[in-house]
Amino acid sequence: MAGLTLRAYAKVNLGLEVIQRREDGYHELVTILQTVSLYDEIGVGSAEGLTLHCDRKWMDGRRNLMWKAADLLQKESGTQMGAAMNLVKTIPISAGLGGGSSDAAAALRCLNDLWELNINNTRLAELASHLGSDVPFFLQGGTQMATGRGEFLEPLCTPKGQWLVLVSPDIRVPRKTPLLYENLGPRDFSDGSMTTRLAETLRVGGALPTDCIVNAFERAADDTFPGLDRYRKAMLEAGAEQVHLSGSGPSLFTLMESKCAGDALQKRLGELGFFGIVVQTVTT
Ligand code: C5P
Repeated sequence: MAGLTLRAYAKVNLGLEVIQRREDGYHELVTILQTVSLYDEIGVGSAEGLTLHCDRKWMDGRRNLMWKAADLLQKESGTQMGAAMNLVKTIPISAGLGGGSSDAAAALRCLNDLWELNINNTRLAELASHLGSDVPFFLQGGTQMATGRGEFLEPLCTPKGQWLVLVSPDIRVPRKTPLLYENLGPRDFSDGSMTTRLAETLRVGGALPTDCIVNAFERAADDTFPGLDRYRKAMLEAGAEQVHLSGSGPSLFTLMESKCAGDALQKRLGELGFFGIVVQTVTT
């Protein structure tokens, strides 16, 4: 069986500002998305129908965004071909790290190749935007500024070799992303200028200025995720200088000067009873 495999990387948001609620129910935002070295593994092989096996049983089959990606590509191209898809999850689920969106983007890329559809990048990005606001970003990954509802993308220079420590609290909230957006009010909105300024620095290959990283969901996340503050305090106690929320949370991250410093923070977090993941920025 001919097969393809791909890593589907997680992301963090190096700043996320929400400008306003739109008439279509979505929100206008300015954010910088950055892929990091934590990934799910995607495999696709030729088969007659569509199947999706995931190592988390409850994520098998049709309910998974990878399935919807495959279905969308079949409808777009009219192909009769099928695929056996495999997903090994490592990225925490519904955590603000973009795991499901990244898996879907990886499925679009793999199946476009496997089925030899030659759908160009522009059309693939349009299809991706039907699957979710973050999905177009993951087709290229790296460092990109996203505007609109997240579908307009501008590539930026990746802050190379930047280490981070992630902490992903195991706090489940049903309908997490829509709920967090619904909980935003005018006091959480801003004009996007902090994140635009950060993008200007990254555009010319500058270092990452940590004092420009803001996230519109900070207040709503504290209200919505019970116990989130405990994780934030633990990170500070373990030595993190600044703690940032990724996406609509609940994952938190802090920037580190080196791998060594990241490992030390991870160790101190472990001593406090918290699990940290040391990652690095990646360009694909
Ligand atoms: O696009 P995606 O399916 O990831 O969005 C999930 C939900 O998050 C949307 O149904 C919407 O309620 C909210 N959302 C939003 N504004 C955005 C992105 C998402 O309000 N820019």
